[in-house]
Amino acid sequence: MAVNSQATLEKLVSLCKRRGFVYQSAEIYGGLNGVYDFGPLGTLLKQNIRKAWTNSLLNLDLDILFMEGAILAPEKVWQASGHLENFHDPMVDCMVCKHRYRADDIDLQKPCPHCGNKQWTEVRDFNLMFKTQLGAASTSVAYLRPETAQSIFINFKNIISSNRVKIPFGIAQIGKAFRNEITPKQFLFRMREFEQMEIEWFCKEEEAMKFFDMWCKERINFYKKIGLNTENIHLRAHEKTELSHYSSATSDVEYQFPFGWKELEGIAYRGNFDLSQHMKFSGKDLSVYDEQTKTSYVPHVVECSVGVDRLFLTLLFDSYHEDTVEGETRIVLKFDPKIAPIKAAFMPLSKELNPKMEAIYKEIKKLGYEVTFDDSGSIGKRYRRQDEIGTPVCLTYDFDSEKDNSVTVRDRDTMKQERIKIDSINSYLKKIIEK
Ligand code: GAP
Repeated sequence: MAVNSQATLEKLVSLCKRRGFVYQSAEIYGGLNGVYDFGPLGTLLKQNIRKAWTNSLLNLDLDILFMEGAILAPEKVWQASGHLENFHDPMVDCMVCKHRYRADDIDLQKPCPHCGNKQWTEVRDFNLMFKTQLGAASTSVAYLRPETAQSIFINFKNIISSNRVKIPFGIAQIGKAFRNEITPKQFLFRMREFEQMEIEWFCKEEEAMKFFDMWCKERINFYKKIGLNTENIHLRAHEKTELSHYSSATSDVEYQFPFGWKELEGIAYRGNFDLSQHMKFSGKDLSVYDEQTKTSYVPHVVECSVGVDRLFLTLLFDSYHEDTVEGETRIVLKFDPKIAPIKAAFMPLSKELNPKMEAIYKEIKKLGYEVTFDDSGSIGKRYRRQDEIGTPVCLTYDFDSEKDNSVTVRDRDTMKQERIKIDSINSYLKKIIEK
């Protein structure tokens, strides 16, 4: 049982729409299955996720370079990577209602969950890549990348020859990836257009397992630092039969969703499969020279790969709480302040105090904080609104504020209030965000 079992997918989908985190894409035209748009709060939350991930790498005492690759890549790349041949899921159709399923998602011994008949087609392989053509003559075939990793491998030589880096080092990237999932489901869990944060760590073969263990530890540390409940995450080593075509060891960071323990991040030892394949298919030398042994070798790779959107959903599940306050249900997103889209809400107790509070709000906003000004409705209503979007603190300016140069700070989680000086708001916010 998940530690925070109050959240259901339905509640989160509804909250995300109501408060402007996530919308079904092209909703006014009936929606596009497996594709989502992010509203103002969702965009801020995504930015904070990317920032936390990037900072977690910058804080390590390791050489890591960042890049942004193109989304389109020619067919040859996907022949080399093995995606054309191997990147498919088993698909089956109900012959009666024509409903389509991933064959490994259902029990074919049982009737179709949609219409109750039991007449299945053969199970076929369905390649998950989106294919397109380039140019007016449409003669050249390209694919939307199904993972960001290949952009890193095909730029490996460019990066080492234009930067003074030595093995071991990493290349990290955040970017969109596309998979024509047969059955996109569970909201942001399995999408057709999504975003990945990937690190490819290049090292010598003999050090690969040492680095694999190091990355497993570092990635779990990252999830602890962004406030995930540690009882809801664990590391699970893949069985031999589960390994991807490129991997000889993989461990998943799994999260305990209401629909079971599922992969949040994959940590894979990819050997030197990718660089070797790209050497073979491009005819270019992607080996490096070892000054010590005076020989060339193709580096091995440990990869850490997590979806921004899947982590977004995980953070929602993990932070969602309901309690009862004054006989009413209070919904709270208990985000770590680093992750919270809005850091503080500025609230004048009465409309006539607006100019004073607005001036303070603008000063703090100028410092670069994501903050909001809220003067509509009762203070209780305003607190509930901020709780529901995870704002860590609300600051209230009242009739005493002018006399004592102070505001009341109300904590989202404990609902405790304290009085702080107006000129200490900046350091107060800094402290809670950096904690
Ligand atoms: N480069 C390795 C790779 O792409 P993966 O396990 O297929 O490995 C890595 O994907 C991560 O990307 C997953 O752990 C998940 O967080 C995210 N991801 C994969 N497919 C996704 C999808 N259809 N929708 C949302 N996120 C997805």
